[in-house]
Amino acid sequence: TGNGTGDVGGTIVPGTAPGFPPFEIKEGGELTGFDVELLEAVVAETSYELGEWKEFEFDSLIQALTSGNIDVIAAAMTITEEREQTISFTNSYYEADQSILVAKGGDFSPSSLDDLSGRPIGAQKGTTGEQVVQEELVDAGKLEPSNYKAYDNYVLAVTDLENGNVDAVVLDKPVAQTFQQERDVEIAFTYETGEAYGFGVRKDDNAVRQALNEGLQAVEENGTYEELRNKWFSE
Ligand code: ARG
Repeated sequence: TGNGTGDVGGTIVPGTAPGFPPFEIKEGGELTGFDVELLEAVVAETSYELGEWKEFEFDSLIQALTSGNIDVIAAAMTITEEREQTISFTNSYYEADQSILVAKGGDFSPSSLDDLSGRPIGAQKGTTGEQVVQEELVDAGKLEPSNYKAYDNYVLAVTDLENGNVDAVVLDKPVAQTFQQERDVEIAFTYETGEAYGFGVRKDDNAVRQALNEGLQAVEENGTYEELRNKWFSE
């Protein structure tokens, strides 16, 4: 796969981690969502073709990319310095903070991270939500490591929240808003992290990164980006 030589054209194989609505959703066996449709529109503006989507757990995506199993990550992945040690990102296409979800109508209504002290808290493995729990709660001595529950995906975490197996789940705000509409959970408060999502590419893959950046600019200019935002997000 891929196009390590920098030639124009070729196939880009995309990878994602579904279960993160509305960015990547598995619906009746079909993969869809904002990231999926955005990347398809972006690549259509380039001289590349998009290959078949491959699915992974979120914390396996970077390895899948660096090993050449896929050529681009489209998974609402936050651009972080730590990840940039290993991979590169396109320009940002979406922004987010971390929201704290709790059971709807329950008696636990935290308003700050301190209020989560000593409670069972969930997040998805390898995410920036997990990083908030780890750094702001566990490392800060407010949470026993055993009180942190790491999930393979946020759908499982939200189900555990509805069932009372965790008291809160930390995740990207736009996804928390979607779960709030669809499930028995609500946002208690939002912790500002100022994150920006980019498509992930291999470090040496300047040709693909540049093509995707040009494609992103094209869909922003021709109205497709806004159309997709309006389609997938209510606000
Ligand atoms: N934005 C967060 C991060 O980069 C969460 C992304 C989770 N994405 C997913 N497809 N499950 O860590």
